[in-house]
Amino acid sequence: SIQRSIAIDGPSGAGKSTLAKALARELGYVYVDTGAIYRTVGLAACRAGVDPEDGAAVAALLPGLDITMGYGPDGVQRMYLNGEDVSQAIRQHEISRYASCVSALPAVRAFLLERQRKLAQAQDVVMDGRDIGTVVLPGAGVKIFLTAAPEARARRRWLELNERGQQADYDTVLRDVLERDRRDESRAAAPLRRAADAALADTTELDLDQSLALLSKIV
Ligand code: C5P
Repeated sequence: SIQRSIAIDGPSGAGKSTLAKALARELGYVYVDTGAIYRTVGLAACRAGVDPEDGAAVAALLPGLDITMGYGPDGVQRMYLNGEDVSQAIRQHEISRYASCVSALPAVRAFLLERQRKLAQAQDVVMDGRDIGTVVLPGAGVKIFLTAAPEARARRRWLELNERGQQADYDTVLRDVLERDRRDESRAAAPLRRAADAALADTTELDLDQSLALLSKIV
């Protein structure tokens, strides 16, 4: 492909989306948040009353899902499910669990794979997710594995939820982070892992500015 791609993978709460967004702005690339696409599938399963671990039931939903992406005037990625803007709805705490469960299903990953590749063929992208450097864009020009200690990631997630006015206690958030890490790392289909040629960026001790400076240096 003649387009340039930067793949950023890592566990939740490492600062992926904030940093990928800032990096994309700096480079003039389009930011693609692939977690939001999985979240939209998770939301659809939740609304349909489907058990997100029931592979057959979730697979049966897929052909009826019209999932599209767009960018608002502010440049922020928006997600649409059957025409409805679900950008807020997919951020609910409950939907994180649904997204994590449905994303372990091979049928869901297959459903979304080509879609993600097409986005990267059409434009220069900074794409973030769990398997971008390993599966979606193995030929990406720059690959970064962004991580931080689980406690640091839980603390950031907790602050984020509080800022949005959602009730959450730190211990529950930490437990959810560890549970989600375990599920993302142990699944058979495209597990979360660092690509052999990905640069490791650990943000445990770094604030956002320092983290962005580190990513810019890697790029
Ligand atoms: O990044 P975010 O937390 O929004 O992603 C939600 C869930 O989607 C993750 O827990 C992960 O299980 C899944 N995901 C994935 N592959 C991606 C992006 C997200 O499996 N490329």
